[in-house]
Amino acid sequence: MGEGCWLDPAANSRSRLCIRGVANIIGTDMDIVLRRPDPARLDEEADAAMAVQRTTLQATLPGLPHPHTEEEDRAWMRDNFARCSVWLAVDGDRIVGVATRSGALVRQLYVATDRTRAGIGQRLLDAMLAEAVAESILTVDLWTFQRNAGARRFYERNGFVAMEFTHGASNEEREPDVRYRRSIRVGAAGG
Ligand SMILES: CC(C)(COP(=O)(O)OP(=O)(O)OC[C@H]1O[C@@H](n2cnc3c(N)ncnc32)[C@H](O)[C@@H]1OP(=O)(O)O)[C@@H](O)C(=O)NCCC(=O)NCCS
Repeated sequence: MGEGCWLDPAANSRSRLCIRGVANIIGTDMDIVLRRPDPARLDEEADAAMAVQRTTLQATLPGLPHPHTEEEDRAWMRDNFARCSVWLAVDGDRIVGVATRSGALVRQLYVATDRTRAGIGQRLLDAMLAEAVAESILTVDLWTFQRNAGARRFYERNGFVAMEFTHGASNEEREPDVRYRRSIRVGAAGG
């Protein structure tokens, strides 16, 4: 897990408002704030983000095999938080969305089931793409499951193009998946 993730402690600090030209706290509309994890509560927030992922994935793709215990999931997410670029969507004290990126790979994008289709995913994606632009990354890839019609629609309307379809032999769930790619350029990602 986490190959190619870059470690930049400053990028997860709210004490610095701008890293590589990208604001670290974005927007207050809809009462949802996008921000970095709080360094003082990193594990706690990673656990809450993992709960969002587990719940939304189960609701979106019922019956999807999940080969890990909750403890393993939490450890994996904590590692992700330590090593990747992370954005959280927060409503008050509640984490309602999470996005993680490792270089040119979007690793996770999840919105709480009761908060989907309200623009939160779009804001998280925009934040990741703006940050990638600031890092001079030219293309961004991500994987999703083929039967995840909602996510595929979301990505395709954001300019992602399906590049590769697999039978799932390489993922833990053994679920057919698809790799998407989006070319990005300065000024194209809301940054
Ligand atoms: C996919 C996801 C991240 C999008 O975030 P979001 O906040 O719901 O999306 P936004 O509100 O910014 O954008 C909504 C648009 O995305 C598409 N979309 C999102 N969910 C959809 C769904 N269940 N069915 C159809 N279209 C969907 C539609 O185009 C929608 O626009 P519309 O409501 O006008 O039709 C979110 O729905 C989610 O977390 N889904 C479950 C987990 C998941 O599949 N994550 C991606 C794993 S790779």
